[in-house]
Amino acid sequence: MSAMVADSREAQSAGLRRTFGVFQLTMISVGATLGTGILVILGEAVPIAGPGVWIAFILAGVTALLSALSYAEMAGMVPVSGSSYSYAYATLGEGVAWICGWCLVLEYAVSVAAVAVGAADYVNETLRIFGLHLPPSLTAGPEAEGGVINVSALVVVALATVLLMRGARESALVNTVIVFVKIGILVFFCLVAFTAFRAGNFTPLLPMGAAGMSAAASSVFFSYIGFDAASTAGEEAKNPKRDLPRAIIASMLIVTTMYVLVAIAAIGARRWEWFETSAAPLVQIVHEITRSDVVVLVFAASAVLAIFSVVITVLYGQSRILLTMARDGMVPRVFGVVSRRTGTPLRGTLIVGALVAVTAALIPLGELANATSIGTLFAFCLVNAAVICLRVTRPDLPRTFRVPLGPILPVLGSLACVYLMVNLGGTTWAVFGVWMLAGVLVYLAYGRRRSRVGALTEAAYRAGHAN
Ligand code: ALA
Repeated sequence: MSAMVADSREAQSAGLRRTFGVFQLTMISVGATLGTGILVILGEAVPIAGPGVWIAFILAGVTALLSALSYAEMAGMVPVSGSSYSYAYATLGEGVAWICGWCLVLEYAVSVAAVAVGAADYVNETLRIFGLHLPPSLTAGPEAEGGVINVSALVVVALATVLLMRGARESALVNTVIVFVKIGILVFFCLVAFTAFRAGNFTPLLPMGAAGMSAAASSVFFSYIGFDAASTAGEEAKNPKRDLPRAIIASMLIVTTMYVLVAIAAIGARRWEWFETSAAPLVQIVHEITRSDVVVLVFAASAVLAIFSVVITVLYGQSRILLTMARDGMVPRVFGVVSRRTGTPLRGTLIVGALVAVTAALIPLGELANATSIGTLFAFCLVNAAVICLRVTRPDLPRTFRVPLGPILPVLGSLACVYLMVNLGGTTWAVFGVWMLAGVLVYLAYGRRRSRVGALTEAAYRAGHAN
């Protein structure tokens, strides 16, 4: 069990370099979270919730925050790079951990492919403003009429992969600069939108009632995915036990504040019915109010950067989770090899980047992308459960951060996650069911046989880490 309380040895043997302080860790989480969601989701959520969409953001934010507290407690005890996979492994056993890791593929790899497609739309839009028109065959995959390959999505993922292969420090620096740009454009949006603020736009607050608001909360939850990315940097943090909890909670507070402000500013600027017809509402509002093409160009270009940093940090997270899983023998060893030169999992990053690039460029993600929220919520449930479990089984372990109010908040966190999951549509559930079934089959065929610790008892696993 001492793997949970102190394990820098694991990091040293793998050769990851400890370079991140609390600031960079917070930037990783904000970088992974703020992106496509807030730029486009209002077009989807406002017609469902009405002017009270900001309450949906708070509801989804509270759900994420409750789980963030649990992440903070676990990250302070298990300061490795596997995020919830490692927490589940240490508390609930190998099978549950695999399922968690499988859900994290939805949260990271699948969602980042969807995000890259979103980035591509903004790239194409920006190119159009410059008068450059890519032919339809190069702006979408084969699922769209006339589409062959989404070149912009491919390029966005390829650039992020190359950057990550150069080194974690370089990537973190680029990410930090971009985080400032994206917070800047959202603040700019609020300032512009507040000039057109009309209090009357907020009535009726919830025209579709509580049901509409709950459905919207589930839909906007996508925009909160990623705050846990700092927990994939445990082995690259200088003082993970102290800094990971701080970074996770700080990033959640930053992101929730930004989202609620943006939602209030947007509704203040336009009647809620207007959002139904808008694919990129923030850019459109800025354009309509400022009437400046230059401002729109800057905004669109910043949006591309904003989404690019989601791609960098989420690809980073996925490669680190796979690295941890590879050490346990749950996925092929190649994902666990750290390059001496760069101190990063070079080959693993390349493979993840290539798979995501091909997926984003060619394969219609459709419902699979929608299933990212449900998979993430499920992983959050497991983290809340892990906190409760450890409070009962190992109350003696030192904790650098404790979720307040004993098990009450983790229980509420789990219930909130289940509530949002229930509000997601039947198709999303069906896709999630198929995904989970595939995960179980892959585990039985691969992970269970090859896992280095599968043959040992849980106690032996813990003891093995303790020595
Ligand atoms: N939360 C991330 C985004 O909105 C996935 O882009």
